[in-house]
Amino acid sequence: MLEGRFITLGVTGGIAAYKAAELASRLNGRGAAVHVIMTRSAGEFIRPLTFEALTGNPVYTDLFSASHLFRMPHIDLAGRADVMVVAPATANLLGKLAHGMADDLLSTAVLAATCPVLICPAMNMNMYANQVVKDNIARLAQYGYHFVEPEVGRMACGHFGQGRLAETETIMGAITTLLAGQGDMKDLTVLVTAGGTREPIDPVRFVTNRSSGKMGYALAEAAFSRGARVILVSAPTCLPGPAGVETVLVESAGEMREAVMRFYPEADVVIKAAAVADYRCARVAEQKIKKDGETLILELVKNPDILAELGRNKREGVTLVGFAAETRDLEENARQKLDKKNLDLLVANDVTEPGAGFGTDTNIVKLIYSGGRAEDLPLMEKSLVAHRILDAVLEIRQNR
Ligand code: CTP
Repeated sequence: MLEGRFITLGVTGGIAAYKAAELASRLNGRGAAVHVIMTRSAGEFIRPLTFEALTGNPVYTDLFSASHLFRMPHIDLAGRADVMVVAPATANLLGKLAHGMADDLLSTAVLAATCPVLICPAMNMNMYANQVVKDNIARLAQYGYHFVEPEVGRMACGHFGQGRLAETETIMGAITTLLAGQGDMKDLTVLVTAGGTREPIDPVRFVTNRSSGKMGYALAEAAFSRGARVILVSAPTCLPGPAGVETVLVESAGEMREAVMRFYPEADVVIKAAAVADYRCARVAEQKIKKDGETLILELVKNPDILAELGRNKREGVTLVGFAAETRDLEENARQKLDKKNLDLLVANDVTEPGAGFGTDTNIVKLIYSGGRAEDLPLMEKSLVAHRILDAVLEIRQNR
C-alpha cells in the first residue's frame, strides 16, 4: 500500500529524532517516496544527510530556500503528500499547530496540508502530562489531526512514564490505516474466508486439507489497503492476523458457516477463498480413539455448502466470489460451480500446476465472470492476484 505514495515526514527537535531515521528508512523500503522536513532544533539531534541517504531525496529545513526539487516547499510538500507525518512532535510544535502559528517550514507545511496529518508526540513525561499540552492535543484532534500516543517506558532523562515516541511498527500501522481510508474500496464491507477447515474425529485428531490460507489473507490485506472494512473468517493457518482486519477464528465448516451467516448481512462483497471440508465425521468420539482394531472406518456426512447457501439468499447489491480448486477440466468444472452457486465471479485454479494452489506464495488463476467472460492471469504473487480479483469485483459492481 505504501508503494508510490508521497509521504512528507516532519522531524522536530527531540531526543527521539534519531528514531525518525528508522521510520524514514522503513517507509522508503516499502516503496514510499519520503520527503523530510526538519526543524532547526531537529538539526541539533540528527543531520539532514542521514535522511537524505535513507530516502534518496533532499531534506528541507528552510522556509525561504527555493532550491531543491520544489519551488515552494511548504506548499508542494503539503499539497502533494498522500499523508503527512510528524515524528517526533515536540510540545513546542503541538502548541504552535494548535494555535495556527506558522513560523518555520514544518509548521507552515502542516497548516497548508489537505491530506491526513499524523502527529506522534514525544517528550518528557511531565511535559506530556501538563494540562496545556493535553489541551493542545485535544484541540488538534478536534480539528481532525490524527495522533499516535507516546508509549510508557524509561525515558532518556532516566525517568519512567509516558512520553517515549511510539514504536516504528505502530506508527507504520497508523500510516497504513490513514492511507487505506483514501482507497477505491473505502465504502465497502468485504467478508473474506480463508484457510482449510478442520473437522474433528476425536479430541486430538481432525480431518483437514492442504489450504495454507495465504490467498484469503492476501485478499483481506489487499481489500483493507484499498480502504474497505474487512471481516476475515479464518480457519486455522500459520499466518499472523492482518493488521486492521477484523478477524474471526473458526475451526470447522459448521463454525465457519455460523460466522459467515452472522456477518453476511453487513457485507457488500463476499469472497470465499476458504477450502471448506466437504464432509465431517458423523460422530465425533468424546474420548481419544485407541488403536485397538487393525482398521478404523470413519463415517463422513456432507457439510453444508456455505457459498451455495449465500447464493440462494443473495441480496440485491451483494457481489459473491467463489474459488474452485480443480485437478482437471478446470474451466468446465468452474463454470458449473459459478452457475450452481449463483456467483458473480469465480476464481479457478488448477492446483496441480507448479506455482499454483496450496501453500505457495504465487498462483495461476482464471477469472470466470457470470456473463461468460474468462480471463487468464499469468503466474504472479498471491498479493497481486488479490488485487486483480478486487479490480474485477469493482468492475462488476460498476457495470451492474
Ligand atoms: N465452499 C463452501 N462450502 C462448502 C464447500 C465449498 O462455501 N461446504 C466454497 C469454497 O469456499 C469455494 C467454493 O465453494 O469458494 C468451491 O469450493 P470447491 O471445494 O472447489 O467446490 P465444491 O462445490 O465443494 O465442489 P467439489 O469439491 O466437488 O469440487
